[in-house]
Amino acid sequence: MKKYLVIGNPIDHSLSPKLHNYWFEKNNIDANYDKRKIIKSEIQKVISEIKDNKLDGINVTVPFKNEIIPFLDTLSEESKITQSVNTIYIHDKKLVGHNTDIKGFELSLNETQFNPLNKIVFILGAGGVVPSIIYALEKLGVSKIIVSNRTKHKAENLKKYFSNISVVDWGDQPEFDMIINATSLGLSKEDNIELNFNNINNEKLFYDVIYNPKETNFLKTGKSLGCKVSNGKMMFIYQALEAFKLWHKIQPEINDDLRNFLDT
Ligand code: ATR
Repeated sequence: MKKYLVIGNPIDHSLSPKLHNYWFEKNNIDANYDKRKIIKSEIQKVISEIKDNKLDGINVTVPFKNEIIPFLDTLSEESKITQSVNTIYIHDKKLVGHNTDIKGFELSLNETQFNPLNKIVFILGAGGVVPSIIYALEKLGVSKIIVSNRTKHKAENLKKYFSNISVVDWGDQPEFDMIINATSLGLSKEDNIELNFNNINNEKLFYDVIYNPKETNFLKTGKSLGCKVSNGKMMFIYQALEAFKLWHKIQPEINDDLRNFLDT
């Protein structure tokens, strides 16, 4: 039986085992996918397990997507540019780090019917997932990316890899076509983002990377303005789908059954 694992801290909330194990069953794959909470000093041990063939693949989540990099033999181009790895596999006995969050974000955006071409995107937050979102948006041909983060220097740091982005102060509100909440504000139901959206038209897309709760106050605001809204659930599903394809060379199905299953 093949063995897969997601590592992170915290990890309790992760739906990756549920999703991958569901697809194993649907595709008759003899494998098991587990989750493990680790601390930084335990990364080496997990890496030894995959090197010793005790594990066949690893997903990496917050806060290790960057910290895992020195332990790997090689990185995909996407991982190099974003300095972020969420999927590890073995190729020619080498440990390869890849980033499927990029494709996950891109595919999730397809489903919103919002065409990002030549659009202005305003990103709130500068944490682990933001480089992947910027990478995807640049590939999709947006005209401008503006980042705002409470700790401004973290947003400024992103310019090292993405020199075309603009950075504004936390609380500033530039013109935008699409706004993305990539902060952890919203994980608690009562969390609010202190921006004033009163004078915006309904052609915008409000996108929240958070998918639990399903509808953050940020998305509620977008909805009340008549804007398109999307939470991060499809990004989560698509990043998993891309990892699944890498590991098993099978395209698993995404249907209502699966969406409902993940909600239960
Ligand atoms: P990390 O920063 O370790 O990569 P993350 O969960 O990927 O963690 O990112 C959390 C994001 O939410 C960060 O952009 C963080 O802002 P800071 O860089 O200033 O910490 C943002 N965030 C978390 N709590 C916040 C709050 N109360 N107000 C504004 N932004 C917040």
